[in-house]
Order: sequence, then structure tokens, then C-alpha cells
Amino acid sequence: MLSRPRRNRKNEAVRGMMRETHLGVENLIFPLFLENGQGVKSEISSMPGMYRWSTDMVIKEIEECMNLGISNFVLFPAVAEELKDKMASHSWADDNYYLDTIRKIKQALPDACLMSDVAMDPYSSDGHDGIVENGEIINDPTLEVLNRMSVAQAQAGIDILGPSDMMDGRIGSIRRAVDNAGYSNVSIMSYTAKYASAFYGPFRDALDSAPKSGDKKTYQMDPANKMEAIREAMLDEEEGADFLMVKPALCYLDVIHVLKETSTLPITAYNVSGEYAMLKAACMNGWLDYNKAMPEMLLSIRRAGADAILTYFAKDYAQLVK
Ligand code: PBG
Repeated sequence: MLSRPRRNRKNEAVRGMMRETHLGVENLIFPLFLENGQGVKSEISSMPGMYRWSTDMVIKEIEECMNLGISNFVLFPAVAEELKDKMASHSWADDNYYLDTIRKIKQALPDACLMSDVAMDPYSSDGHDGIVENGEIINDPTLEVLNRMSVAQAQAGIDILGPSDMMDGRIGSIRRAVDNAGYSNVSIMSYTAKYASAFYGPFRDALDSAPKSGDKKTYQMDPANKMEAIREAMLDEEEGADFLMVKPALCYLDVIHVLKETSTLPITAYNVSGEYAMLKAACMNGWLDYNKAMPEMLLSIRRAGADAILTYFAKDYAQLVK
């Protein structure tokens, strides 16, 4: 044998020198769930180790994460049922605690990079990401809602807008709205290829945001499709997105890979709630070794082509490599 690949694996020094993919804490974006109140840290039952935080508590949590090297956070609001309506109008209301929380975090920790969720579902009495009319999710009037929500978040000091709704034309529409309001420096991370996936279940428990009727298949993508992801990516690029996201991550590594090959924009991937719950459950049962399986999962997403990963594992990973 002239060629023996095992020679390049013979010890950690050689393996380290040859390693193709690296995962740093700076590549991670940590999702945090919020709820209105004070002194709240309540665990989400289907996501052990994840909590809903009140503003005062989330500031402490973010500070702790920043000391571990995490600088990027994405914030999701749980909204009281009585504040929900068909138009998600509370999303841009002056007394929306979510906007206030963004303001307070930026005040306390100006170096924390904050990303928002731009979508109607946490505020919608229908639990959908768009306006529902006679059982249909209507696209263009929804864009107006997304514009108002985005401008309100930009005013509050958000660094990156995260439209997760999958309406057509939303990136261009939001880009123009925030530019016209004087916020051309605010970035947009588009949920470019967001699939109608069963892996969002625990997230919907956390926010009580499941659709009241029907499903999300007329706007989120069919899990069978890959070419369609390229089409979405091309549109988002034209419309001014700064980053393209694939969601979920693990069942869609091929989609991450193809977008990395076809776009010049940075690619991110959302390692979603169901992927977190699945691994956590297996580890809690003693069936998998958490400190080995978790970094392997994250590394696979990087290897597929993701520049950054939104993941509930962020803090555990930062602690592990510290
Ligand atoms: C809602 C939204 C969802 C997630 C992020 N934003 C759920 C959905 O589309 O129903 C899911 C994230 C996760 O499962 O971790 N616009």
C-alpha cells in the first residue's frame, strides 16, 4: 500500500493540523425566549435547560453568555393571549414589552448584537405568520404589518431583523421601510429556506404560538424541495438580504451546502427546538454522551457550509470549550 490515509490520523497533533472545519463560539447565535414580568426564569418543559426570561433576568443571562464569548442573540417574545389580534397590532405598539426589552438590553450591554423575530405568529390570534382571511394567508397586506413591526424594532435599537414568516417579497419591502425610516444600518437575516417542519413543536410550546387552524404549508417550504431554496435565495439576494438562513439545520444539510455553493452571501442555519429536544432527551436517558454528540452536531452544520448557527446549545458549547 502506497497510500495510507490513517497516517494523517495518527495523533492529535497531526489531526489538529489537518482539520478542515472549525467551530468557534463567535459562529454561534443564542436564541432566548422572553416573557413580560419581573424576576421570571421559567423552564420550558419540552426544552430542558431553556427558559422564558423577564427583561431584568435576560440582561443577566446575556451578560453571563458574553463572558463566555457569545456576542449574538436572537430574541423571541411570548405574548399574553389577550394582546393577540388578527393584525398582530401589538407587535408595533408603544407598550410592547419586547421592544422595551430590546432597548434595555442595548442600554445595559451595547456590545451585545441583537437579532429580532419578524413574524406575526406570537402576536396573532390565528397563530399564523400572516393575516388570515377566509382561511387563507394573504400575502401583500401582511407585508404592511411586517414593515411596521420592523421599523418599531429598528427604532428600539435592534441590530439584525429576522423575518421568519416566508411571505413573498418581504425582504425588499422591509428593506425599503426601514431605509425610509432612517435605519439603513440595520441588517436583515432572511429565513430564506424555512421548511414546513415538524421540528418546531417545542418552540411553539415555549411561545404558545401554534396555528389555531390549518398548517403553515402554503407559506413555509415543502421538505421535499431543494431547487426552490435556490429560487428563494436568489430573490432574497436581489431584495437586499445581508444573510441567508436555512431552517431547520440537521435534516437540511444538503440545502445549507447548495446555498453556500450558489450564493456569495453569508449562510446561517437554525438548529431548531426539535433538534435540541431530541438530543437532550437521548442524553438525559443516558443513551448519548451530550458533550460529544452536541459538538458533533454543530460541527456537521458548519461542515455543510453554515457560517453561523442559531442554536440552543450555544451556552453549553461555550462552557464546554472554555
Ligand atoms: C415563527 C418562528 C418559528 C421558529 C422561529 N420563528 C416557528 C414556526 O414557524 O412555527 C422555530 C424555531 C425553533 O423551532 O427553534 N415565525
